[in-house]
Amino acid sequence: MKSLLSINDLTQSEIFEILDEAQQLIEVSEREIKKVPALKGKGVINLFYENSTRTRTSFELAAKRLSADAVNISAKTSSVSKGETLLDTLLNIQAMSPDIVVLRHGSSGVHKFLSDKLEEVAIINAGDGTNEHPTQALLDCLALRQRLSEVHNGLKIAIVGDIRHSRVAKSNILLHKKLNNEIRLIAPSTLLPKEYGEAFDVPIYRDIREGLKDVDVIMSLRIQNERMERSFISSTQEYCDRYCLTKERVKLASKDALIMHPGPINRGVEISSEVVDCKENSLVLTQVKMGVALRMAVLIRALRD
Ligand code: CP
Repeated sequence: MKSLLSINDLTQSEIFEILDEAQQLIEVSEREIKKVPALKGKGVINLFYENSTRTRTSFELAAKRLSADAVNISAKTSSVSKGETLLDTLLNIQAMSPDIVVLRHGSSGVHKFLSDKLEEVAIINAGDGTNEHPTQALLDCLALRQRLSEVHNGLKIAIVGDIRHSRVAKSNILLHKKLNNEIRLIAPSTLLPKEYGEAFDVPIYRDIREGLKDVDVIMSLRIQNERMERSFISSTQEYCDRYCLTKERVKLASKDALIMHPGPINRGVEISSEVVDCKENSLVLTQVKMGVALRMAVLIRALRD
C-alpha cells in the first residue's frame, strides 16, 4: 500500500508515472459506461472534516469508476460530534477493513501522525490545513499537459493570491521545483511573508504587473477567510484593485498564457469573470475534469504491488 501525504513523497519519475496513468484513464469518463474493474472488491472511505465540492466528488467518482466500494463520511454526520477523537475514528474505520482512506482535515500535518499509527490502510491527503493538497497539484499539472507539450524544465509559473493560507500553493511549489520549473509568488506581505519565499527559495513580487511579466501559466488563489482569525487585508476593494487577475493584467504575461484556479472561485475578487470564462486560455474546468482521472490514478497506485 502506498499512502500519498505530500508531494515530497514523490520523485520526478513517480510524478510522471502518475500523470501517464491518469492520462490513460481520462477516456474512462468519456465512455457511455464509465467503469473499469481495476479496484473491484476494494473499499475507499472518503472522510472529510472540511467542506468540499470538487475533491470529495471527484474522489468518490474515481473510486466508483474503478468499481471500488466508496463510502463518504462527513464530520457533521459522524460521531466526531459526540467527542470521538480523530485517531479513534480512524482506528474504528480501519477495523471495518477498507483499503484506502481519503482524508481532508483542517489540521496541518495530521495525515503523517495518522499514517504512523494505521498500518492496514493507505491514506491519501485530500488537504490538510494550510499544509498540502498533493492531488490538486498533480491534477493541475495534468491539466497543463493537455495544452503544453512539456510541463517541466523551465516553464514560468506565477501564483497570485492568498499564498500564506494555501495548501494548493505549497503543493504546487514543491511539485514544480521537482519538475525544474520557475515559480514566482505574487501577493501583499500580509498574505505572503518574505520568509515564505526564503523557505522555498522562490522570488516574491508585491507588484502584480512586475510578477506576471512573461509567465506561461498564472495560478490564481482565493482569499481563505475561513483560515483567518483576523483580517489580513485592509478591504476587499483595495485587494481587488491591487491583485485581481483582470484581462488587462493577463496581457502582461506571455501570449496565450494559461489561467488556472483550484476553486472555489470568488469572481471579481481574486479573478475577473472575463478571465475565468475565457475559453481559449482558462483551464479552470479542465482542472476539475482532470481531477477524476488523476484521482483514479492515485487510488490505483495506492494498492499496486
Ligand atoms: N480545489 C478544491 O480543493 O476544491 P474543494 O474545496 O471544492 O474540494
